[in-house]
Amino acid sequence: QKDGFRFFMEKEIYEQSDVVSDCMLERVKDETTSFDEINDSILDGINEIKICACGTSYHAGITSSYLFERLSKIKCNVEIASEFRYKQPLLTKDTLFIVISQSGETADTLEVLKMAKKAGLKTLVICNVDNSSMTRLAHYSILTRAGIEKGVASTKAFSTQTVTLWMLALYFANVKKSISNEVMQKELTALREVPNALKIEDKIHEKTRRLSKRYLHGHGFFFIGRDVFYPLALEGALKLKEISYLHAEGYPAGEMKHGPIALADPELFTIALMPQNLLYDKVKSNVEELSARDSTICSISSLDFELSDDFVKIQETNHYMLEFFEMLVVVQLLSMEISIRLGNDVDMPRNLAKSVTVE
Ligand code: M6R
Repeated sequence: QKDGFRFFMEKEIYEQSDVVSDCMLERVKDETTSFDEINDSILDGINEIKICACGTSYHAGITSSYLFERLSKIKCNVEIASEFRYKQPLLTKDTLFIVISQSGETADTLEVLKMAKKAGLKTLVICNVDNSSMTRLAHYSILTRAGIEKGVASTKAFSTQTVTLWMLALYFANVKKSISNEVMQKELTALREVPNALKIEDKIHEKTRRLSKRYLHGHGFFFIGRDVFYPLALEGALKLKEISYLHAEGYPAGEMKHGPIALADPELFTIALMPQNLLYDKVKSNVEELSARDSTICSISSLDFELSDDFVKIQETNHYMLEFFEMLVVVQLLSMEISIRLGNDVDMPRNLAKSVTVE
């Protein structure tokens, strides 16, 4: 049931605060994070992490690669499952092979999991569906506890995947003693605040509704960000594409000057993810370059930015991951409001299926 919401997607965006609390239940402890599903021996003989996934799950994977390297100090790279499958990849046994999937049934992700298992690697799936093909196959499974997701556009699956992977990065950091107690405490404090960061203020939703009036006329959209805000930019662009059918690209902010900035004009809308706690000045200078070339700028930030044409102000926090989740809600709502205004079927966008079980 939609419980008074217009679409399942809207209901699922609003559910994120609660499902993320469920996801963290019994997993965030005083000194570290822990999971019933795994133990410290999972890292025995492991020097590297390889992540494979598709779509939104792939974006959660890229986000986590920054956290695995920064916090767990384990080399980590991420690949799209359909690419990885046919590249004749080198699989070495010192690699922990992680797949991420909401459904646990995506054909390409399932195949790479089979490949890795056959090659003798330790495999772990981050999944929302218990007893799915992937949870049955992998050596270890961690469930994201998002509940059933009905909207084709993934929302709460992404936030729970990201939180699970952040908790996992901290769990590995504790096993490897790769961060100080002080840093661990700071991370845990931030983690506990995620459900708050995902609570939606009326004025934020209202702002996205107002922006959607003009933005539905956009000729093209760039979502830009750095570090973990780059995969968030990819996710924002994917949401807009899949339910609004408007052309959108996610880009690393620092890459714009290497080509895409040539597209800048007033009909090109740039959604700039400008976190106060991470590389703010670097993103700011990238946005200034776009503004100087007349792109229409919508900044999402806790700090006012004088060159913005539009501004969505998020709450000030002291951790970039909290800004990440606040901004996530904004980009999800913005895509949904544009899609609604265009008269599209938000929950069942054209040409798409919830679960892609063919390659
Ligand atoms: O079930 P999975 O997480 O494996 O699905 C992967 C993608 O098909 C999925 O995330 C897709 O990109 C969503 N429609 C995005 O909203």
